[in-house]
Amino acid sequence: MKITSVEFVLSAGGVRECPPGPMIEIAVSGRSNVGKSSLLNSLVGRKAIAKVSGTPGKTQRLNYFLVNQRFHLVDLPGYGFAKAPESMRAQWRRMMQGYLRERGQLKAMIQLVDSRHEPSREDCEMVRWLQDEGMPFVLVATKIDKLRAGQRLTAMRTITRVLELPASQPIVQHSSEAGDGRGELLAWIGETLESVAEPHP
Ligand code: GTP
Ligand code: MG
Repeated sequence: MKITSVEFVLSAGGVRECPPGPMIEIAVSGRSNVGKSSLLNSLVGRKAIAKVSGTPGKTQRLNYFLVNQRFHLVDLPGYGFAKAPESMRAQWRRMMQGYLRERGQLKAMIQLVDSRHEPSREDCEMVRWLQDEGMPFVLVATKIDKLRAGQRLTAMRTITRVLELPASQPIVQHSSEAGDGRGELLAWIGETLESVAEPHP
């Protein structure tokens, strides 16, 4: 698919503040600093429509972007940064489970893990929730430009093993800097939109 327009819609503090109406949405999830906002910017071809920051935990709200006047892309709060107090982690869990269960407009998730690190406990938890809820998702390994070509296959195997994914599950190797994986992700979004579109009468 081709992106022809994108605009910022609103920033929601929780599920109740998300936009009403039937517009379907695809959300970007992953630990803090994994590269969610950067991926969103690179996907829509804008430098900084989503805020990127060196400070982990910067995006603590659900940021809505309207793409092609057709669907919402949502930049979700990052989880699991080292300094987060337990109360903040618990709040994130409540918010995310509520969002996954109650947000009917949510049709699919772009789940990010850092290609350089073993997936964290919270990454595993997140993938498990998606599987349990039957939420379609694509798994993306970010910052692939930081790995040499020879390290990439091993990294993908580690992700598959730690997240206990089926061996057949593809992982998109992505770089917001170099553009790797962008076409693959856009194709996945296009297919996802087709699959949830109202059948023509
Ligand atoms: P939070 O909003 O805190 O949850 O973080 P985030 O997941 O939105 O990450 P963000 O996009 O802000 O990126 C975090 C840092 O990683 C920034 O310094 C980015 O420049 C860097 N980064 C993101 N994607 C890439 C990538 O593909 N390659 C490289 N080399 N750096 C990246
Ligand atoms: Mg962010």
